[in-house]
Amino acid sequence: MPHTNRRVFLKQYREGMPSPEDFGIEDSEITDVPAGQVVVKVDKLSMDAWIRTTLTPGSFHETAGLGATIRALGVGQVVESASDALAVGEWVYGLLSAQTHALLPAAGLTKLDLSNSLQPRDFVGPLGVTTGLTAWVGLIAVAEVQAGDLVLVSGAAGAVGSMVVQLAKARGARVIGIAGGPDKCRYLIETLGADVAIDYKNADVAAEVARAAPAGINVFFDNVGGEILDIALENLAPAGGRVAICGAISQYSDMDNVRGPAKYLRLAERNASMKGFVVSHHAARFPEAKAEIAALMRDGKITLPEHLVEGIDHFAEALLLLFAGGHTGNMLVQP
Ligand SMILES: NC(=O)c1ccc[n+]([C@@H]2O[C@H](COP(=O)([O-])OP(=O)(O)OC[C@H]3O[C@@H](n4cnc5c(N)ncnc54)[C@H](OP(=O)(O)O)[C@@H]3O)[C@@H](O)[C@H]2O)c1
Repeated sequence: MPHTNRRVFLKQYREGMPSPEDFGIEDSEITDVPAGQVVVKVDKLSMDAWIRTTLTPGSFHETAGLGATIRALGVGQVVESASDALAVGEWVYGLLSAQTHALLPAAGLTKLDLSNSLQPRDFVGPLGVTTGLTAWVGLIAVAEVQAGDLVLVSGAAGAVGSMVVQLAKARGARVIGIAGGPDKCRYLIETLGADVAIDYKNADVAAEVARAAPAGINVFFDNVGGEILDIALENLAPAGGRVAICGAISQYSDMDNVRGPAKYLRLAERNASMKGFVVSHHAARFPEAKAEIAALMRDGKITLPEHLVEGIDHFAEALLLLFAGGHTGNMLVQP
């Protein structure tokens, strides 16, 4: 049975922020499914900051070729199968990419375990590798958060940040979240339960962090980098602070000129550590992470609002919106 696939591909590279005209849209027919492969109807794509970095040459995440479908992680349902490993109707997670139908080797896909009332969308949400699991790995495996810690989180109203705030609270920490604008700050306090919210677009962040953390911060979970990282280093606790470098979204548009931390000597002066991580390197701990997050979900202690963009034609707009801070919580595209 042929499947019409609509895909979004890269037309040209550009320095700085991409523009909608850098992307093309094309329809084609999937008529043949080779042995070992399946056709997946893509249900939801996770809009992640790493996708942006693939659009320029020299990307850590492997640069997209011109004409290639833009890569993205997502969930979908098998609609045709030439593999014994996956049957029609099964739900999978993987690199489905910016398209309506993906023809992929079954071996590269993860079958979703939808027991205990879990929904496919949870696997690009609280249980998503690039959302909830990234938050868990950075906060718990890397920063080793403890009850009573004061945790500072940048990009706190986004997908990873929202999960960090809630996981830190669930582990008995106090949380200061940094996000852009009064609405996001209200969301941090009222929806996520953060103790303090700082609006970096309208407040003196250095003064606000110093005021909220007179004894210093124990953990900084950084999604943003740049000036905010320096402010966090300046406000580390006198000893034993941990900085987890998750990402640096403020720097992704000019990767050749990334602003490094000027205040890195605070690490030595305060016996602190700063450690980066790639979530996939901690896959051995995913079962532990999933169990903790799923239990919190069952107890109603995790909420992750979705910003759903409908239609694969709007994929590029959604990606650009991610960098403009135009969403709260988890941005997804539903092809
Ligand atoms: N290490 C890993 O393995 C790993 C895995 C997944 C994700 N990540 C990283 O996690 C971070 C969050 O990713 P996400 O997918 O959850 O995105 P997200 O937080 O849902 O969205 C990005 C948010 O970043 C903020 N932002 C954008 N430009 C900014 C700037 N110049 N300065 C300050 N804030 C800015 C915006 O919020 P405001 O409105 O508040 O500005 C925007 O909503 C990214 O840095 C990403 O690279 C790392």
